[in-house]
Amino acid sequence: MGNLSFKKAKDKIQKLRDEIKYHEKKYYVDNDPQISDSEFDALVKELEAIEKQFPELITPDSPTQRVGEQPVKGFVSMPHSIPMLSLDNCYKEEELLEFEERIKKIIPNESIHYVSELKIDGLGIAIVYRNGKFTQAVTRGDGFRGDDVTVNVKTIKSVPLSISNSREIEVRGEIFLPFSSFKKINQEREKKGEPLFANPRNAAAGSIRLLDPKEVAARGLDVFLYSIFIQGKELKSQWESLNTLKALGFKINPHSQYCLSLKEVISFYEKWQQQRDSVDYDVDGIVVKVDSVAQQKILGSTSKFPRWAISFKFPARQATTKIKDIRIQVGRTGALTPVAVLEPVKLSGITISRSTLHNEDEIKRKDIRIGDYVLIERSGDVIPKVVSVMKERRTGNERRFVFPETCPVCNSPAFKPKGEAISRCINPSCPAKLKESLLHFASRRAMNIEGLGEAVVNQLLEKKLICKIPDIYLLLHEDLANLERMGPKSAQNLLNEIERSKQRDLSRLIYSLGIRYVGERTAQVLAANFKSLDSLAKATFEELTQLQDVGRKVAESIVFFFSQPGNIKLINRLKELGVSTPVKEPLIPKEAPFAGQTFVLTGQLSSLTREEASEIIERNGGMVVSSVSRKTTCVIAGKSPGSKLERAKQLGIPIWNEEEFLRHVKKE
Ligand code: IVH
Repeated sequence: MGNLSFKKAKDKIQKLRDEIKYHEKKYYVDNDPQISDSEFDALVKELEAIEKQFPELITPDSPTQRVGEQPVKGFVSMPHSIPMLSLDNCYKEEELLEFEERIKKIIPNESIHYVSELKIDGLGIAIVYRNGKFTQAVTRGDGFRGDDVTVNVKTIKSVPLSISNSREIEVRGEIFLPFSSFKKINQEREKKGEPLFANPRNAAAGSIRLLDPKEVAARGLDVFLYSIFIQGKELKSQWESLNTLKALGFKINPHSQYCLSLKEVISFYEKWQQQRDSVDYDVDGIVVKVDSVAQQKILGSTSKFPRWAISFKFPARQATTKIKDIRIQVGRTGALTPVAVLEPVKLSGITISRSTLHNEDEIKRKDIRIGDYVLIERSGDVIPKVVSVMKERRTGNERRFVFPETCPVCNSPAFKPKGEAISRCINPSCPAKLKESLLHFASRRAMNIEGLGEAVVNQLLEKKLICKIPDIYLLLHEDLANLERMGPKSAQNLLNEIERSKQRDLSRLIYSLGIRYVGERTAQVLAANFKSLDSLAKATFEELTQLQDVGRKVAESIVFFFSQPGNIKLINRLKELGVSTPVKEPLIPKEAPFAGQTFVLTGQLSSLTREEASEIIERNGGMVVSSVSRKTTCVIAGKSPGSKLERAKQLGIPIWNEEEFLRHVKKE
């Protein structure tokens, strides 16, 4: 760099700061990086070097000054110049209609337009700019006073340190932690044995209160702004506010929508209730705001809420309840899974009375006891799980759970291999295992024996009419007709179903065997490649790992399964009883355009359903799998794609949009 003159250094510093500011905005606000990370780092390094030479040129809004040097001692309470009100909540469409009725009573003769925004589950923040410079950031607190967390908010890279407007400006919004950062933080805390954060909101609240800005910077906080007050200038609408924020370089949520009627608001709500998992932050509802500021003023506020806005919440995914008992469930593979019996509680619209506790280590790690109050969570379609224990509600009457050393069904010893978390019943003829295996064998996606459900299987086991899977094919009419809630007619129907099941595809038969790690897709790959159960049984580890979607773990498990004499006996017996193992006809020709290729679908396609797209791929010889791996040929991405798209990008796997996909198919 040599010796720069003061004047040259000043110019160069300005140029570098402008450039860094531009790229920070492109990266952190617009999600549209223009240069590589290393090129960006080089710019910052260059600036740091010159600033080191000319420390008198360092200003607080330099991008090198986001992270303060010294940890702070605590936070000072500050008043808000305009109170930060909270929002009235509603959960039902009727309540939203009532909200509009209240508005129409006050403003009867005008049309009301709305802005619908996502309600981000984070914490409210107010940020003040003076003379175009980031000056102060205060948490919402009780709405009247909050904590001055300026040094910490300054570390959030999407917050501009300077803006091109020199009036006094206050912006407000929500600080949040993206799910991806939340997971990383909890993984690190788990490694260090520190208590985990229950949700991203708590993690964000904890992070903004850290005393060392360096630590805050590492947490990955982000912010969406939704309000702006400019001294001496009145904006006319919420929509204009959002556009002004955007024009000044603030990060606003890209999904806000202008709505001409409440009907449009409701569609927005319904769409986002479906899609809430497609974004990397926690959305707990929508916020509906009257757009016109003139109308907002007429409506005014109660002491707590504005009358011109309301939050329309999604059904909660978390709830608090009490653990009444812990029981052990024995699965098909003999896995002993602890299950919490809960005091019934409503979660996302359904009543929950059980929750998996995964395994013994999980109970120990979270210190879950019988009688504890716990926070439970259900995300997407997943079975509810215990997030955390509310230790402060303990009375002393809680009981620790002692994990059994034997199977609670057959009393055989349970075995936990070294390094594994799950203990299993080792008795191959454990009735609980048999029951689950039978139910899996007969299930819709396996051999699809309609009518062979839990109630029937329980009775067949009790009467010892079935002792192993092949016994299904030895059942007689009188065996079935005598069961409870069965008659001659339904017995005959079930027999017909059992008979029909002998002709299922090889892939279903493979899946129905319940080989560990062999799901439906893997079963299809195996069927397509080996064409008979006998050749699959002879397959070596090396042959198996060469297949798409078959990794080492899966291959090992398949080889192990067929090395067990009991399993070979089972297969031979099924064959003797007439279960055939044909491959699905017609065979897909090798020259089919997608032969040997695997595809992953993500997001919503507009002209096809997922099933239709899968069918087209399969007709052309390809296969659809659910997760992206290095072996995936191509990812087809529709609207609002999920993490699969990110993964494909990371792995450098080709990505097609719907149009490209259709073009490839049409060519054929
Ligand atoms: S507007 C007077 N818009 O939800 C207007 N708030 O339950 C008040 N929040 O304290 C806020 N996303 O921290 C608004 N798009 C959004 C929001 C939002 C999240 C938070 C905010 C507020 C709380 C009220």
